[in-house]
Amino acid sequence: MMSDLRPSVIGTSLLASLGGFLFGLDIGYIGPIEGFPGFQSSINRGQPLTSAECGLITAIFSLGALIASFPHISSFCNDTMGRRATICLGTLVFLVGVALQATASGFAQILAGRFVAGVAVGALSATVPMYQSEVAPQAWRGTLGATYQWSVTWGILAAFLIDRQVNAYDDWGWRLAIWAQAVPAIILLLGMLAAPRSPRWLALRGRNDEALQTLRQLRSSATGALEEFAEIRAIVEESEKAEKITLSEVFSSHYVRRLAGVGMLVMLLQQLCGMNAFMYYGTVIFEELGLDSGSFNLCAGLVNCIATLPGLLLIDRFGRRNLLLTSGILMMIACVLCGFLGTIFTEPWCATLEGCDPAASRAVPVMAAYGITLSIFLFIASFASGWGPVAWVYCAEIFPLRQRSMALGLTTCTCWFGNYLIAQLTPVLFEEIRFKTFHVFAAFCGLCTLLAYWLPETKGVALEDMQTIFAKKLCATEGPTAPLHSTAKGYTG
Ligand code: BGC
Repeated sequence: MMSDLRPSVIGTSLLASLGGFLFGLDIGYIGPIEGFPGFQSSINRGQPLTSAECGLITAIFSLGALIASFPHISSFCNDTMGRRATICLGTLVFLVGVALQATASGFAQILAGRFVAGVAVGALSATVPMYQSEVAPQAWRGTLGATYQWSVTWGILAAFLIDRQVNAYDDWGWRLAIWAQAVPAIILLLGMLAAPRSPRWLALRGRNDEALQTLRQLRSSATGALEEFAEIRAIVEESEKAEKITLSEVFSSHYVRRLAGVGMLVMLLQQLCGMNAFMYYGTVIFEELGLDSGSFNLCAGLVNCIATLPGLLLIDRFGRRNLLLTSGILMMIACVLCGFLGTIFTEPWCATLEGCDPAASRAVPVMAAYGITLSIFLFIASFASGWGPVAWVYCAEIFPLRQRSMALGLTTCTCWFGNYLIAQLTPVLFEEIRFKTFHVFAAFCGLCTLLAYWLPETKGVALEDMQTIFAKKLCATEGPTAPLHSTAKGYTG
């Protein structure tokens, strides 16, 4: 019921989702800027960057994020310092990263800045969705949590737009695009200082009066707040009796180990299907096609943002598996089309003939360029309404409560590892095998489709009943051995 939802909760959730916006900004801004002559002359003494250098500048961000989202690090920050403090600290670190990047005058400093920003975004990606889910009333948890993924797409779009506005040739354009990221970060920092702490974290730290008071502020009925507080206290008391969860516990049970393997595969394929090749290097690809790369990149960002909405609205109706399956098939078709059209029409047509001038024969026919662009948009729309949001939601709901926090840490780390691989290898692959790169992605989209076909549907299944649908599939009837209690962590859309 809408009356369950207080404006303060909506405001707090949207404010925290700015953490996703920062994630999107960092994904989106770097690709176009690497091609800016002003950027190259500032950080590489006027020499064009090689594809491996571009790959490293892009990818070092994901390495920072991978480290920060490592289960032990993220759970230390979230449980000891608290969710709100971690978001504030993450934002401060992000601002340091912004300053380092925006004032860079060499390769080493831009790498350091990207790494620091990555650490911040990794920490935020492990904290914001959890904070959102803990301040939201149960009936609104999914919808409010989903605003995180949507914010990521808005961030990517905003970054493409800002890059397009600044001057590519002077020493200031690219610096301005990076300084602009400080604005949402400062809003997030100041806003979070005034936002409520997570009631669940307060209860975990034994600050019961504050926990109850916060719940009274966040919930529309005083009795509802009291009931929720009693539930949280029961879970906290139970968790105090049991030993602290460790990573080895995740691996010691057949069932959870295999389930964690499935979750990690889902997140790895979400990255290896190649979406971020377009998000990071869209401008390079559109340039190859002889198109106005800035405008087409912007359209790609727009398609991503708009197509995320149906995914979020359909996930509880059409089901996770159906969305993943349809999205996997469409992404594969789009990649195959893109690879074939690109290979046929962008390779110099006279390459095998004597006296061929490859540059002169490379012009891509307009219809072919539009055909490839349409397949790219088809790919992006299919990812945005399927594998993009659904992979996060699926992983957040399949694990037993007790192991959920650690297992989700593992799947988030895997996601950043895949992100790193795509960021680092795409420019090198594209230089070496050009549009055949999309055949590699098509193969991974094929694996996405096969996995989606195998995965059980989780729509409408209670969290406690997941074991009944997975145990048989995983040939592991041995369930989680320890009592079910833990704090859900990671994306909970
Ligand atoms: C992925 C990101 C990707 C974004 C695009 C997210 O679900 O994890 O890697 O850049 O979607 O919208």
